Amino acid sequence: MLLSLADHTLPTDPADLFGREAPLVLEIGHGNGSFLQHLAETHPEWNLLGVETSLGSVSRTFRRLRTAGHPHVRLYRGSGRFVVRNLLPPASLHRVYVNFPDPWHKQRHQDRRLLQRQFFQVLATRLTPGGSLWLTTDHPGYFRFAVAEAGHSGCFAITTNAEPPAAALRTKYARRWITQGKPIHHARFECTRTPEAAFPPTLTATDIMHHAILDGAVPAVDSFEKQVYPFAGGHVILLEAATTVTGEAVLFLARVEEADLIQELLVEVRTHEQGVYVGIKPFAEPLSTPGTKAAVRYVTEWLQQQGLTLTKRSF
Ligand SMILES: C[S@@+](CC[C@H](N)C(=O)[O-])C[C@H]1O[C@@H](n2cnc3c(N)ncnc32)[C@H](O)[C@@H]1O
Repeated sequence: MLLSLADHTLPTDPADLFGREAPLVLEIGHGNGSFLQHLAETHPEWNLLGVETSLGSVSRTFRRLRTAGHPHVRLYRGSGRFVVRNLLPPASLHRVYVNFPDPWHKQRHQDRRLLQRQFFQVLATRLTPGGSLWLTTDHPGYFRFAVAEAGHSGCFAITTNAEPPAAALRTKYARRWITQGKPIHHARFECTRTPEAAFPPTLTATDIMHHAILDGAVPAVDSFEKQVYPFAGGHVILLEAATTVTGEAVLFLARVEEADLIQELLVEVRTHEQGVYVGIKPFAEPLSTPGTKAAVRYVTEWLQQQGLTLTKRSF
């Protein structure tokens, strides 16, 4: 049920994710998964993909759905923007649900909102003809914003007088806002035009496991301060470094941010028959991307600063 992108190409055929051909429906920001569960119970004919940035919410949803046993639900921890742009091929998506998205009240944070003009344009290329996005929110400002942004995209017919799905009014956030007496707003955005631009994926993943070999010995790490390294497509943050208990390896905890994809991974430095090896540890199954290559490169440079000499590298 939990998707690991390392097992798939970008973009990927949704039928491969689910083991069958069926209309693909996405819920972005599913929270504790109650609405997703409702969809799974009422629409066994759909392939359902839940996308959520919060690890805690993905775990809660996983437990909820695993107990109920739904074979046609997949969960991906990450950003809805990344999934629509990079994972899904053109004309593959039947519907998207967004219930109570984070409103980002402050003017200076509005560029963090999901439902922006460019998102709608990319979405229009991934939706099947007549496919739609259904938005339910308590936030009148975000509601007006999303309706205006979809209008500017020029790709959607917008309905603002339909009733929200009853189950969308029973989610954790819906209950909170309804108890507080807030009115709930609902809009349906039906795709009527595909933009000329194809909006291809912003990220390419490869099978190459980037690595380097250096002459010298694995250095002892007594202290390490967080370091941020920008690269063309994003940045790598080396958060921590620690020597393993055997003393034979050093592990760097890295956060790699690129094209709406965030990967937390380990870069390992260990003794190797030809010297000292640096590479991505096969743990948490990261996608091999320009960002993971940059992470290996920056740890390699750090080792060179510790006096080791580079003898070989894959990048
Ligand atoms: C206000 S909560 C609503 C949760 C749920 N839909 C509900 O109605 O109870 C918004 C959720 O969206 C998630 N989220 C925010 N930005 C996201 C993004 N770009 N992609 C996927 N999930 C996102 C947050 O982690 C949070 O769980």
